[in-house]
Amino acid sequence: MNYGAERVSQINLSQVRKMFEQASPTAINLALGEPDFDTPKHIIESLKDALDNNRTHYSQNKGEPELRENIAKKLEKDNDIKVSSDDVIVTVGASEALYSSIQALINPNDDVLIPDPGFLSYAECVRLAGANSIPVQSSSENGFKTTIEDVEKALTPDTKAMVINSPCNPTGAVMEKEDIKAIAELATDKDIIIFSDEIYEKIIYGKKHYSFQTYTDNAVTINGFSKAYAMTGLRVGYCASCPEIIDEILKVHQYNVACIDTATQVACNTALTSSQDCVTEMTNEFQKRRDLVVNSLNDMGLDCVMPDGAFYVFFHHENPEEFVQKAVKEDVILVPGGAFGQMGKKFIRLSYAQSYDNLKEAMNRLEKIA
Ligand SMILES: Cc1ncc(COP(=O)(O)O)c(C=O)c1O
Repeated sequence: MNYGAERVSQINLSQVRKMFEQASPTAINLALGEPDFDTPKHIIESLKDALDNNRTHYSQNKGEPELRENIAKKLEKDNDIKVSSDDVIVTVGASEALYSSIQALINPNDDVLIPDPGFLSYAECVRLAGANSIPVQSSSENGFKTTIEDVEKALTPDTKAMVINSPCNPTGAVMEKEDIKAIAELATDKDIIIFSDEIYEKIIYGKKHYSFQTYTDNAVTINGFSKAYAMTGLRVGYCASCPEIIDEILKVHQYNVACIDTATQVACNTALTSSQDCVTEMTNEFQKRRDLVVNSLNDMGLDCVMPDGAFYVFFHHENPEEFVQKAVKEDVILVPGGAFGQMGKKFIRLSYAQSYDNLKEAMNRLEKIA
């Protein structure tokens, strides 16, 4: 008997997670989608204090008012987005923000543009809403940066929304300001909603991050604490948009999770309002690792561009599946790029969320099979 509801039984579980779960204890795992750094001490202390002070009861459905106030301030300061604290919902990671927004705004049979290559969840969230995902193909020649032309090529008469992700998982690409502005204008003109996944906003090297919501009201900004503050397991994200959109998203959020846990929201408030040196230090370290990996791969003849953000390198290979299998035999775990869409089929994703020494050792191992 097939127990799954029709719209659920066709959904795929994450291939990347499977890879991660199969990794042997001696392997150097370069398939990770999370910072290897510890959560900064002051955030942990704040969480402990919150628990000691019995912050263990429900919060408002949208989230703790003080945290939402500080998220609104952050959006104004960093992203030039003007929203009130009522236009913010604190969610179970960026994952829930993404899922709840898509469920709330997308009808069955709508077309939703998603990046190719792109993060695995987008296609499945769109499918769970009964809608169709249409790939926006970015090209390796352009360092996989999505352009206005890429979006225009993918548009269909039934396009209701698009998901965009900059800095990007799996490519590390950071989009140009001109493209962000032009796509935002197109969204306004054509009544298309942009789900802008900005979870890697802070992990960016020498470039400035721009947000769609700065230039259009038709945007839902999705962000969170997982990557910037190395707290993936504490599960806090958020979305912000105009009041009419937030009202709809709140319905899905409320009947799914009611609210996220209160003590962790206190810790997130501390993360936002205290020194951001921990974020800068982590990003500086990531940059050193990126340089090591890109230079080593290029020296081995494995072609890749220098990505401007996130902690992934997406390198070219004619036979990715075979190379990934050979790498497993050398105790290095990688992910074949085909897992991220058609455009990734000749690429391999390498996450450098591993110590510098481990990365050096992994490069020595890969050199043997390159
Ligand atoms: C592009 C992208 N968006 C969203 C997420 C989910 O983040 P969170 O841990 O906040 O749910 C990830 C996690 O890997 C990601 O890579």
